[in-house]
Amino acid sequence: MSGLGRASAEIDAEIARFGSIGFDRYVELALYGEHGFFTAGRGAGRAGRDFVTSPEIGPLFGRCVAVALDDEWRALGSPDPFVVVEAGAGNGRLCREVLRAEPACAPALRYVLVETSAMLRAEQHERLTIEPPAVALGGFAATIDDEPPEPVERLGPIVTALDALPAIAIDGVVLANELLDNLPFGLAEYDGTAWHELRVGSGRAWIRVPLARADASAVGIFGSVPPGTRVSLPRALGPWLAAAAAVVRRGALLLVDYMIDAAAMSSRGDGWLRTYRDHQRGGDPLTDPGSHDITADVVVEQLIGTAASLGLDTALVGQAEWLRKLGIDQLVDDGARRWSEGAGVGDLRALEGRSRATQAAALTDPDGLGGFTVARLVRR
Ligand SMILES: C[S@@+](CC[C@H](N)C(=O)[O-])C[C@H]1O[C@@H](n2cnc3c(N)ncnc32)[C@H](O)[C@@H]1O
Repeated sequence: MSGLGRASAEIDAEIARFGSIGFDRYVELALYGEHGFFTAGRGAGRAGRDFVTSPEIGPLFGRCVAVALDDEWRALGSPDPFVVVEAGAGNGRLCREVLRAEPACAPALRYVLVETSAMLRAEQHERLTIEPPAVALGGFAATIDDEPPEPVERLGPIVTALDALPAIAIDGVVLANELLDNLPFGLAEYDGTAWHELRVGSGRAWIRVPLARADASAVGIFGSVPPGTRVSLPRALGPWLAAAAAVVRRGALLLVDYMIDAAAMSSRGDGWLRTYRDHQRGGDPLTDPGSHDITADVVVEQLIGTAASLGLDTALVGQAEWLRKLGIDQLVDDGARRWSEGAGVGDLRALEGRSRATQAAALTDPDGLGGFTVARLVRR
């Protein structure tokens, strides 16, 4: 049986056992099950991959993120160690570009890549020198008397990789680019009188059951909607956000993703639910699980409400504006200058400089990546 067939078989076996499964469980198996899409090492990248994310456009996004990390580091009083936990780190490209940008925080930096897919974690080694977690998160010198050991300073940058969020409290940042849209989500539909959950039944057909009370607040934000409206139930968002917030003792969560408001979701049919494979929009999410990404726009009210329930305040800014504040235009000008100085000798750095204008155009395009939203969450 092919890998794709095996994902279907795993899902169908579970449906047979339980009668039906929530769409969130279906997404979990299709993306992260034994034969899931990301488990098989698919995802972000260019040729041979499935979709292009901001880090995959080129090094410029990572340079801007390096500036954002320096801002956070300075705002915390330049702690050493300064820990950045990148959740959903994929193949490690963003981390590589952040390090190449040589941020001011580098000597203090401990960078923790968190990625569930073992195949993608293996790929990170092609781009980065990855140390064991004990090296990156340790490095403590004993003190005299009974005082707790002090961290050894200026050891960074050190990179390590984990399959789940670390169980430590950090001074630093939890960073995630295009993770929230990939957290498993359920589906609800309004029939004109009541909300129902859409579950996946035998033969992978939709089954409607009355919405559980626990999901009532998730649909409450949509107000009055026409019959047939479909919305997402972000069941994995709360647990993930709670776990991520618990990691940050002092600092912020920076979450970059495609986001829409509740009114946009409820007026868009199910256009907010998409599949991708081989750089094309894929088909029906219930067909060929494991062969494509399944993703949903993040609903800002759901994010802000979930964050608030965890004692976090959320500030939102568009990606284009965020990158401009971080100095993307200056970086493009510097790149153009470098090109004019180095073009004659075919300097690679000069070539990278020249390509910054094209990278910036893609990263700030309001109809593309520039239309993404950056959410900065801090404890109240
Ligand atoms: C859309 S990709 C983004 C990859 C990368 N951040 C980028 O921008 O190119 C989402 C990634 O998040 C990973 N992922 C999903 N849920 C995760 C979780 N709970 N913890 C860590 N990684 C997760 C997936 O395996 C996948 O590699």
